[in-house]
Amino acid sequence: MIHSRITGTGSHLPEKILTNADLEKLIETNDQWIRERTGIERRHIAADGETTVDLAERAARRALDAAGVRPQDVDFIAFGTTTPDLVFPNCGVLLQGRLGCRGGPAFSVETACSGFMYALSIADKYVRCGESKRALVVGSETLSRITDWTDRSTAILFADGAGAVLLEPSEQPGIVSTHLHADGAYKDLLYCGGGVSKGFDPAGRLAISMVGSEVFRVAITTLGRAVDETLEANNLGRSAIDWLVPHQANLRIIQAMARKLDLPMERVIVTIQDHGNTSAASVPLALDFAIRDGRIKRGDLLLLEAFGGGFTWGSALVRY
Ligand code: ACO
Repeated sequence: MIHSRITGTGSHLPEKILTNADLEKLIETNDQWIRERTGIERRHIAADGETTVDLAERAARRALDAAGVRPQDVDFIAFGTTTPDLVFPNCGVLLQGRLGCRGGPAFSVETACSGFMYALSIADKYVRCGESKRALVVGSETLSRITDWTDRSTAILFADGAGAVLLEPSEQPGIVSTHLHADGAYKDLLYCGGGVSKGFDPAGRLAISMVGSEVFRVAITTLGRAVDETLEANNLGRSAIDWLVPHQANLRIIQAMARKLDLPMERVIVTIQDHGNTSAASVPLALDFAIRDGRIKRGDLLLLEAFGGGFTWGSALVRY
């Protein structure tokens, strides 16, 4: 039986850093409130003209380097993003053009913060059925472009970044299981109004709308169920998990998931303080950080999870 396995990871954050102190000059907020309520200390913002695919290309090349695979040998690209460069071609195809790997399928998935989890689940299935030998899975965002920098409820949270993993076939799992869900009944709690078909506001702007406290409440109960589902599907107890690699949306949500798994915070990968909520990029970013700094080692059992607008959510059990 063929499994898929992560053979390389990479990430990239844009150069410009916006600290909580910088935000104090833009909106009525303060560093202490942001740290206590979210865990965020700083975030990275793309330069003028720097796009989602620019960030993704840097992350993807790092993942390919780590795996020892040439860019032209990638045969499948699944790209999670809500902030595409263009209406079309999609970001997967734009990245394919940059990497020079022609001919294989390349597409993007727009499921907000769980975009990487959806992309990972799809790519895993293509590798497992033998149709892909080198599948690149990307989460990349320039959320700063759809953030209203006068709205303190969202401006403190969202930011830019990219993460990527390469999946290759393996006799041993790898991606042990993935679990995806959505519930469109929650659309009004978190969305970015306006678009090509519905139309834009008169100034042509896009901005995220969020009922933060409700999103917070539903995220905790939903992710809690996702954790249970992942463990039950694999007949595992909580103690089997070596590392939780959660969506970096809010430190308090991450702490609630750690309690749920009975994991000490030392076994939870937390990077939110350095880059805020980068939506689809957040899980592969955190994963790459922890692999490169030596915390996550080959053979460790990881639980990945993410929750985003829609609502959409997903989890994965991964033997690294
Ligand atoms: N700075 C200072 N004070 C603030 C700020 C701010 N930026 N924002 C709100 N406040 C004040 C409010 O006015 C309120 O004051 P009051 O008590 O005097 O009325 C108080 O702080 C509490 O406000 P709440 O909105 O209830 O704050 P809460 O504790 O819920 O934290 C937050 C807000 C951080 C947004 C939280 O609700 C959250 O993280 N929600 C989840 C967001 C999320 O996880 N999204 C995930 C998916 S993202 C995606 O898919 C793209």
